[in-house]
Amino acid sequence: MEIIQITGQTPLYGELTVQSSKNAVLPMIAAALLAKGTTAIKKCPRITDVFHMTEIMEELGCRIRWENNTLCIDTSDSKTCRIRALSAGSMRSSVIFLGSLLGRMKEADIPYPGGCVIGKRPIDMHLAGLKKMGVVFEEGEQNLHAKAENLCGCKISLPYPSVGATQNLMLAAVLAEGTTSINGCSREPEVTQLVVFLNQMGADIVWKRPDCLVVHGVKELHAITCQAAADRIVAGTYLAAAAATRGKVVLRGAPVGQLDAVYRVLLKTGGKLRITDDTILFDGSQAVKGIEWIKTTPYPGFPTDLQSQLAAILSISDRKSHIEETVFESRFAAVEELNKMQADIKVNGRVIEICPVKKLYGARVHARDLRGGAALVIAGLAAEGDTVITGYEFLARGYADIAGDLAALGGKIQKIEVQDE
Ligand code: UD1
Repeated sequence: MEIIQITGQTPLYGELTVQSSKNAVLPMIAAALLAKGTTAIKKCPRITDVFHMTEIMEELGCRIRWENNTLCIDTSDSKTCRIRALSAGSMRSSVIFLGSLLGRMKEADIPYPGGCVIGKRPIDMHLAGLKKMGVVFEEGEQNLHAKAENLCGCKISLPYPSVGATQNLMLAAVLAEGTTSINGCSREPEVTQLVVFLNQMGADIVWKRPDCLVVHGVKELHAITCQAAADRIVAGTYLAAAAATRGKVVLRGAPVGQLDAVYRVLLKTGGKLRITDDTILFDGSQAVKGIEWIKTTPYPGFPTDLQSQLAAILSISDRKSHIEETVFESRFAAVEELNKMQADIKVNGRVIEICPVKKLYGARVHARDLRGGAALVIAGLAAEGDTVITGYEFLARGYADIAGDLAALGGKIQKIEVQDE
């Protein structure tokens, strides 16, 4: 198995180019099914969530090819709507195949989606919206079967701006008959990027308001070549690592326009920022201040995907901080592990209370989810002594090379292969 080894307390210093966005490319891979031919995604990140998606695409009869970092997906011979791949049951994003298979074949048969253990993560909004479009579901023990004689446009109101439900409904709606409006939709950048991607394929999707998408069904879509955008969560993770180690970093190719809420938080901690075209210059040498209360909210608020990383920074700040998690009810798997490193964090329902400590200390800790794992990496870089992080498979889901990236910034961190215990 692979583990991460860190010797902490070296401030990060240097430049790095940010990898492309996991959450943007996963729905694009599923969306490729909606057109016959070869869709190519340039700068596609080589992460396990992408590999799991491509395995599923192969099971569906697509041909997958990598040309350097371009992922080529040939959907010409895809004829089945049944997914049985084990990987589908272990990743939440596999639910996105409901929309794209229904769009392409009017039928889908998928295992119930899995993914990080961060709360219940139901899919009721996906199902309710699709039912309204005419989809009939049969819930098996292992699999969910969906079929629509006619996929029809309709008016859908989401009770919460779910990212996945918005994307799934869009995928089902682009080739449906008539017009679908999705009220109360998510406005995360990854939703906007899927709109642009689908429109390039020939779809007709417009934003009626910032929280309402209107999809006019079209007869067919065509394959395209596109480039994946930079990952705002990876950028935020590395900024957090610079803040925690009181370092100075330059992130190039960064999604500078998608991080306003993150900039506000970093400035509150005492960090200094300079933003140019696609570059973030961050000086975290004075990023020592705690934040009395901050909550995660859907975009454009502070992202839940950076909540654990922020907890790592605030654990060594100058005053008590609180983070309220409003998106996922129990996304605090990293807290117990951070406390093993002598952090003092208490979970109280949806809120964590972070009492600052002078120092974190290296320890053997276990990543239990992707972003919580990133928080442990950040804590390890800031801590005195050596840290070993197991559960690397969670990190590999979303970071192409977190150890290599942070080592390039001067962190004493490496990924090593050890015998399974
Ligand atoms: C996506 C992101 C994930 C991010 C999250 C919130 C991907 C692959 N993943 O996840 O990294 O943390 O957005 O920004 O893009 N909910 C329901 N019923 C539903 C759907 C969602 O109750 O049918 C709830 C969820 O349990 C959660 C909240 O809505 O509490 C937000 O979920 P959602 O926005 O759907 O997140 P995901 O698309 O799963």
